[in-house]
This record gives sequence, C-alpha cells and structure tokens, in this order.
Amino acid sequence: MSIQKRKKEHVELTLNRDVFYDKKTGFELYDFVHNALPEVNLEDVDLKCSFLGREFSFPLFISSMTGGYSDAGAVNAEIATFCERRNLPFGVGSQRVMLENPDEEKSFSIVREKAPNAFIAANIGGAQLIGGLSKKSIHTLINSIAADAVIVHLNPLQELMQPEGDTRFGGIKEGIMKLRDSCECPIIVKETGAGISFKTASELLEIGVDVIDVAGAGGTSWAKVENLREQSKLPMHQFDDWGIPTAICIKEIVNLKDHYDFELVASGGIRTSFDLVKSLALGADFAATAQPVIKAIFEPDSSPDQLLDLWMNECRIILTLLGCISFNDLNESHLRRV
Ligand SMILES: Cc1cc2nc3c(=O)[nH]c(=O)nc-3n(C[C@H](O)[C@H](O)[C@H](O)COP(=O)(O)O)c2cc1C
Repeated sequence: MSIQKRKKEHVELTLNRDVFYDKKTGFELYDFVHNALPEVNLEDVDLKCSFLGREFSFPLFISSMTGGYSDAGAVNAEIATFCERRNLPFGVGSQRVMLENPDEEKSFSIVREKAPNAFIAANIGGAQLIGGLSKKSIHTLINSIAADAVIVHLNPLQELMQPEGDTRFGGIKEGIMKLRDSCECPIIVKETGAGISFKTASELLEIGVDVIDVAGAGGTSWAKVENLREQSKLPMHQFDDWGIPTAICIKEIVNLKDHYDFELVASGGIRTSFDLVKSLALGADFAATAQPVIKAIFEPDSSPDQLLDLWMNECRIILTLLGCISFNDLNESHLRRV
C-alpha cells in the first residue's frame, strides 16, 4: 500500500472508529484543590504562555497529523489558518512521503502560505534518520514549510503493528544526534501515543534534544488504528493498550528539569481543559492535542475555533478557582490525589 493511501486510511479510522486506549491518561487520578478565597478576578486571568522563546495565546500545540495526499492539503490548510488566526503553534504530519515523492510537497508547503507568521514544526520519523538524513533532505524538510523546529516522531509500537511497518530501530539515536548537529532549529522528540519513559527522556536530553513531547497513552492508540486497518490480516489486539499513561510520563520526566535545560510537552489523550490544566500543574510547560482537532474539522456543527473558545473559557474559570492569575502560577499543590 502506498504511504498516501495509508495516511488517508489513518485519518478515516481516527474519525470513524473507536481507536482509543482503554487505559486512562492518569489525569483522572487527580482532582483540583478548590480555593474558596481565590483573590483573583476572572477578567485579570492571563492565558498567554511561552514555548521555545515565543509567546502564544494559549498553551496548546496542535500535534502533527497529516500531509502527503490530495485531501491532506485541505486539512493542513485549515489547521494552518486556524493556528495563524489564534496564535497557536502546530506541526505538520510526517514529511517522509514528500522526501520520497516531491509531487506531494504542496500538501505541506500550503501551511506556510496560509500561516506566514505561525510557529510551524517539520516532522520526520526516527526510522528515517537511521544512517543519517542527507543535507538535501534536511534542507527540503525545513525549507518547504520554513519550519521553526523539527519534530522527530518515535513510534516503534505503531511500526510493529503495521503490516508494512519498519522493524529496524538500531541507529535512531545516532540519527537524531546527526540531525541535531546539522540543523539550526530546535529539535522536538515525540512519541505518537505510547509515551516516553524517564530513561528514554534522559537519553534524548543527553544528546541535546530541546523538547520532549511525551505523547503518552490514554488517547489515540496507534496500535489499535493499525490493527483495525484492512491490511491487518493478523491483528494483535493485545498490544492495543500498550504504553505509559501521559500523566506518569510527565510526573517522571519533570524530575529531569534539575539536570537539563529543556521544555516538556504533555500530549496523548488531552481531551478537556481539565486535562490541560492538570498536565501543567504536574510540571509540563505546554500541552498538545491531535485527534480532537481533526474531529472538530470534519464533524458537522463543530470547528477548531469552537473547541479552543470552550477550552480557553474553561481554563480562565479553572485558574480563577485555583487562585492563579496565569498558567505560570500552577504547581502540584493545586492538585490532590483522589
Ligand atoms: C490522523 C492522525 C495522523 C497522525 N499522523 C502523525 C504523523 O504523521 N506524525 C506524528 O508525529 N504523529 C502523528 N499522529 C500522532 C499525533 O501527533 C499524537 O501524538 C497522537 O495521536 C496522540 O495524541 P491524541 O491522543 O491527542 O490524538 C497522528 C494523529 C492523528 C490523529
């Protein structure tokens, strides 16, 4: 099956089927500590937040999703227009397809046309870095969208569930190091839903990665997506729930802040404003979400703007009820284990 067809199938499955972990994110284990004497006025709450030296209207990164087939250009254009208008950062989906087939570049480059000022991250799989990505490919990845950062996605679980997936993972770390050395922009490393452990994060930080996006378990299960594909002759559903819950990834990796200078993104199952605020209270610098945004684009009577307005209004209320004037005031004392 061509990469283009697979990408299309991925979007369709995440929109139309139950592709979610049974396992929860771990945010449900926490409740907010209500402050009956907040001493904060709702209208004074400031939702702005910075990431990689830039200020954004709200701490929400729109995670990498698509690109590389005809309809994907329209989805990317919509995400880009939304992020430009609302001042949110976003990432394009894996650009492997356009490295292999330059005709597919348009579905990616459209994002810079629609979002001349937005923060946009390029995206490539760790497996494509084995042996080192050529200077020409790095140049194409970045220049096609005038990228502000490069995301490397790690997805061994997904690849192993994919009938046509990669099975060789030796040399990815060295590939990331080479990318780091030949690339001016920050390097973000993310999973795609199975999470990043303390040990993996330590190894990534040791080789100079700037941002860890945990993309933990509790949201979209890419094992489930792959097992639901028509191609999947022998689905291995036992792996559908494999992964480290997002809140656990955050709790563990935040301890590395004492030793390394990096930013931590919470993603994987961020589905409500409550999840977002809890992730920041646990120590994440920013949150990110994928599936709810693509759903908001495709479902009738919904839009990414509606979703964002709801989350922003709710966050203003949550911060007021916690006695916080901004996200910077949040810490673990605002949560209690239930
Ligand atoms: C339709 C779709 C396509 C995706 N494609 C990519 C991709 O190309 N590269 C990538 O790094 N992650 C990709 N992801 C994974 C997301 O960026 C995210 O890490 C994962 O879905 C978990 O977040 P969620 O629970 O908010 O969906 C995709 C997600 C969706 C929903």
